[in-house]
Amino acid sequence: MDEKITPAKRLQGVINVPGDKSISHRSIMLGALSRGETEVENFLMGEDCLSTIRIIRALGVEVLVDNNLVAIRSDGLEALREPVDVLDAGNSGTTMRLMSGILAGSPFYAVITGDDSLRSRPMGRVIRPLLEMGAEIMARNNNLLAPIAIKGGNLRPINYESPVASAQVKSAVLLAGLFAPGCTTVIEPNQSRDHTERMLRHFGARVAVDGTQVTVWGKPGLTGKKIIVPGDISSAMFLIVAGLIVKDSEIVLPNVGVNPTRTGALQVLKAMGGDITLHNLREINGEPIGDIKVRSSGLKGTEIGGAIIPYLIDEIPVLAVAAALAEGDTVISDAGELRHKESDRIATVVKMLRAFGAGVEEFTDGFVVHGANKITGAVSETSADHRLAMSAAVAGLAAQGDTVVRGAECVHISYPGFFNTLKKLAV
Ligand code: S3P
Repeated sequence: MDEKITPAKRLQGVINVPGDKSISHRSIMLGALSRGETEVENFLMGEDCLSTIRIIRALGVEVLVDNNLVAIRSDGLEALREPVDVLDAGNSGTTMRLMSGILAGSPFYAVITGDDSLRSRPMGRVIRPLLEMGAEIMARNNNLLAPIAIKGGNLRPINYESPVASAQVKSAVLLAGLFAPGCTTVIEPNQSRDHTERMLRHFGARVAVDGTQVTVWGKPGLTGKKIIVPGDISSAMFLIVAGLIVKDSEIVLPNVGVNPTRTGALQVLKAMGGDITLHNLREINGEPIGDIKVRSSGLKGTEIGGAIIPYLIDEIPVLAVAAALAEGDTVISDAGELRHKESDRIATVVKMLRAFGAGVEEFTDGFVVHGANKITGAVSETSADHRLAMSAAVAGLAAQGDTVVRGAECVHISYPGFFNTLKKLAV
């Protein structure tokens, strides 16, 4: 499906962005491992999270869906049952990697697979520690790629030093650690998003955090809880950048998650000169949330690299759009992980920006954007990558001339209704 984007004169309005994708996945998984009922409000009905629901149902746990409300009823850690067929994670890396940890702890045989993109993404990073914990695992290409076959159970706790800062790797090991007697520890090179740690505590697990080191105590008695999913800061970021780069705009985004392990892009955009303010800061189910107000601003180029990268990894495509309209260069480095996302996001972002006429140079672990005060409308291919499609649409709002976003239906992965929201803001 193609979406045509015409340049916007101004953007104005109050938008409730959909529920956070990372937290929505975890609410279903932890609900399925907890005794009693878990009720989830503002669940993200995007394709990725629906894949998690389908898999949890295939493992024998009742999941009821009513609009954006989800209820999960389970008997706790030992409730999951052997599935009768292959489990399909679709396009969702979070589903495949976190579920691999849960399946490694469960005493039955299961196979998990996904779409073309997911079957080409690295899975050795979760398979290695789970093998070390004692799960039996076989996967394609010497245990590196899905489909992954797992015979779980009888795990032992480990101390795992992860070579990558990845919340999916950390979470897979911590979730497997729930099934192992004793303490399981993960150490990361830099801290990644900490939703699993926060939600585990909310459900009653014992978790200790010391810098980049996280420990979970195995065999906890988790109990069902109520979860209200905050608005997704990663989805909000498309509207924030749009509000900054389209003249005379003012947008308010209420109830957005502002967990500090997710707000790196806010820091960067503020440092670039963005007029972004946070209001009404509070906490729900262990997650900080607030209302975000953004006004159009002149931006300056910046450098993005080092420990902040995991705090903004999903926002780099849209930050690159902001950089294209900023004064001066923006250099993004230490971001090699981008090559392992839904597309090779270094290559695909560079290609997208060039289509809009921006000057960009590609490196192994990042790129430099030569900012200018003008980009021109383009036909943008999206490589079936939701964040690329939304970034191209945002660029189109501030470009001269019309833009066509090819394969635009992929936004359903994380932001159903995205294009309607843009139309609503542009009136
Ligand atoms: C996610 C972690 C990140 C992120 C992804 C969601 C999560 O991936 O890019 O969109 O929910 O844990 P990595 O852990 O591979 O960096």
